[in-house]
Amino acid sequence: RLLIIDFGSQVTQLIARRLRELNVYCEIHPYQNVTDASIREFAPKAIIFSGGPDSVMREGSPRPPKAAYELGVPILGICYGQQVMMKDLGGRVEAGEHATAEFGRAYVTPTGTHPDFLTGWFMDGTGREQVWMSHGDHVAEIAPGFEVYGTSPGAPFAITADLKRNFFAVQFHPEVHHTPNGKSIYENFVRLAGFTGDWTMGAYREEMIAAIREQVGDKQVICALSGGVDSSVTGILLHEAIGDQLTCVFVDHGLLRLGEAEQVVAMFRENYNLNLIHADESDLFLGELEGVSDPETKRKIIGKLFIDVFQKYADGIEGAEFLAQGTLYPDVIESVSFSGGPSVTIKSHHNVGGLPEKMGLKLVEPLRGLFKDEVRALGHELGLPASFIGRHPFPGPGLAIRCPGEITREKLDILRKADAVYIDQIRKHGLYDDIWQAFAAILPMRTVGVMGDGRTYDYALALRAVVSVDGMTADYYPFTHEFLSETSTRIINEVKGVNRVFYDCTSKPPGTIELE
Ligand code: XMP
Repeated sequence: RLLIIDFGSQVTQLIARRLRELNVYCEIHPYQNVTDASIREFAPKAIIFSGGPDSVMREGSPRPPKAAYELGVPILGICYGQQVMMKDLGGRVEAGEHATAEFGRAYVTPTGTHPDFLTGWFMDGTGREQVWMSHGDHVAEIAPGFEVYGTSPGAPFAITADLKRNFFAVQFHPEVHHTPNGKSIYENFVRLAGFTGDWTMGAYREEMIAAIREQVGDKQVICALSGGVDSSVTGILLHEAIGDQLTCVFVDHGLLRLGEAEQVVAMFRENYNLNLIHADESDLFLGELEGVSDPETKRKIIGKLFIDVFQKYADGIEGAEFLAQGTLYPDVIESVSFSGGPSVTIKSHHNVGGLPEKMGLKLVEPLRGLFKDEVRALGHELGLPASFIGRHPFPGPGLAIRCPGEITREKLDILRKADAVYIDQIRKHGLYDDIWQAFAAILPMRTVGVMGDGRTYDYALALRAVVSVDGMTADYYPFTHEFLSETSTRIINEVKGVNRVFYDCTSKPPGTIELE
């Protein structure tokens, strides 16, 4: 495995990402946590020093442990990582002057010799390579043993290497998109370090199972299962590792979609035979929500009840010492703090965020090293049905935030049926995977209609469908008129209580994806 020592760059995660694409397993550790002893214990096959915002000229600025240079393994230093290497190994770094600072696109040209490390570079006929720079300071004198292999106007030592020791140091960021050939730097580096690119999801699965067994021993673990991809993969992985020592709790707050609770419970019980408590607490949740129409109050009530309910069931599981969570890599903010704050901040991920301390539980987080698409790949590997893996995101408060205003059982019932017809239409037209998230919402009003010879006074529905990358921004989906009219007709014909259908053509911003 490869160790990335993080000096606080904004793009350190992308280094991990590039390496995973090469099927190389790596871990990112903040520099404060890496000591002589820990690095020897980790025994990396190669090390990368990330970029970072500090200046090596500053007294007390971040450094790798000395042992990093003594392990005899290849090292790649990037930006701040290059400057650290030069300073540590006997070179000289100068503070930035305006003329030598570089931010953004730059071009590197070769200096003559073309080492193996640069395979794939300087090939396109122009004799130069586009890179992305972001540095104030620069290397003024390289360390003994190093040679220069590429220069740019602001960085005379853009690419340097000590080929004897396999130490490589570059001033630019090969991990970003704006260094189009950056991937080959990593490719060459890991090849020289002896990685064969055999790290796969299958290998990860085996490693994680061993790690879980080691961490948990013969103790009991509880896990809140929502039916979403992250918690499902976590649950199944733990089940494979420790079988009956795992109990999952599926909290049914009565705000799920049509048939959802039954499907989730059946999938886990039948396919995986895991211990699953179906905590049907819909009366409790819907009772507490009665008469409440303020969106934030709804969220708070649901969040608090969720914790209470989970704790109640967990208390009933004798000897539970661990809580399993589907925390993903992007949720783990391993950014380095230079303001004296805690070095590692972990975003609380699930609704059970505050639980571990409150209940004295230790955390098991087997997905901490993975990105979302890797979790999906692991889900495939574990045999999770494709229909589960590809599901649209569903919010924790469920249908509560798709029922603006007061929630009633009647409205929820109508909403569930209409949503099912809408999603069925989307699937039938082969659009489900093109859409990031789609759902129906029931509006807090009734409108007049005419059906047959009679006047109706029924609910209006809003249909929502968006395309997005991460949910932060979104565009509404451009359905055809035919699709919209067919869907509207089907909903009104098939769902009693609805006499009007709107399509929400608001993007985010200014709208949000959910209506509340
Ligand atoms: P908005 O409505 O904020 O939604 O544009 C962005 C994404 O987040 C989901 N969402 C939530 N998820 N609890 C959740 O677990 C919530 O309170 C919540 N509110 C919105 C929403 O479904 C969309 O995917």
